[in-house]
Amino acid sequence: MASDIEVIRDPAKMRARAEALRRDGQRIGVVPTMGYLHEGHLSLLRLARRQCDVLVVTIFVNPTQFGPNEDLARYPRDEQGDLDKARQCGADIGFCPDVGSMYPAGYQTYVTVEEIAQPLCGAVRPGHFRGVATVVTKLFHTTLPHVAVFGQKDYQQLALLRRMCVDLDFGVELIGAPIVREPDGLALSSRNVYLSEPERAQAVCLWQGLTAARQRFDSGVRQVGTLLETARTAIDAAALARTEYVELRDAETLEEIVGDVDRPAVLAAAVRIGTTRLIDNTLLTP
Ligand code: PAJ
Repeated sequence: MASDIEVIRDPAKMRARAEALRRDGQRIGVVPTMGYLHEGHLSLLRLARRQCDVLVVTIFVNPTQFGPNEDLARYPRDEQGDLDKARQCGADIGFCPDVGSMYPAGYQTYVTVEEIAQPLCGAVRPGHFRGVATVVTKLFHTTLPHVAVFGQKDYQQLALLRRMCVDLDFGVELIGAPIVREPDGLALSSRNVYLSEPERAQAVCLWQGLTAARQRFDSGVRQVGTLLETARTAIDAAALARTEYVELRDAETLEEIVGDVDRPAVLAAAVRIGTTRLIDNTLLTP
């Protein structure tokens, strides 16, 4: 049985605790989450556990990264279940602030990363990455990590946070963790619980489309148009799926690649299945 997990809700207390750990020479690892933890989150915790002395999981459904018509109110929550799972993966501290302590009355300061926030999910979810960059900044300032782990599932988020940490001298090492999938290929997501049975069956089209394109890439096809067409055709075959975007971009800067894939690239896609929005991606390295 893993030892108990310490729950901290007050950002000032979290910060004081992290300062004390640093004074003791402890290496702090942090895994930021919005809770409702699944195997994808847990894989991040297990990876982080090997990189630090004290492991902090943060659980906070961050309102500033949700648009007015998004699923903030119905976002799934299970704090006690999350703390139990995190503890089993070796987390020492659960930082679970409430909205009022993170965004007190009069709050008005935000972090914006410019270019990387524009395309892909940024184009469809205005303000989303501003909310992500702001909350991660606040979580880093309260938990004072040496290392933080994020999933490649949210590829644009990871690229943007890498840029932010360099640009704003955070001195936090970021590690990207591989995407954890269901047996049929669907990437695990807290939002998968919204899918009805027929929707769940068709949700795999996202991964199938990306895989079809990656297979063509692996067999030597380099033309961006052909690769995108391959992915789109496979996704469109699912009657319940509406494609939001399928794009091929530079793996680091997220700039669009035109012509041939001549450098490390990410093929990223978002679809709506019913009212549920799903994203996925795969790396193409020539
Ligand atoms: P959330 O969606 O809860 O995800 C927390 C972390 O888990 C992110 O780094 C995400 O990329 C990772 N993750 C989710 N599904 C995964 C999967 N199938 N495989 C591997 N990793 C996966 O991302 C957020 O929360 C928020 O934006 C946050 C960074 C916490 C800021 O509020």
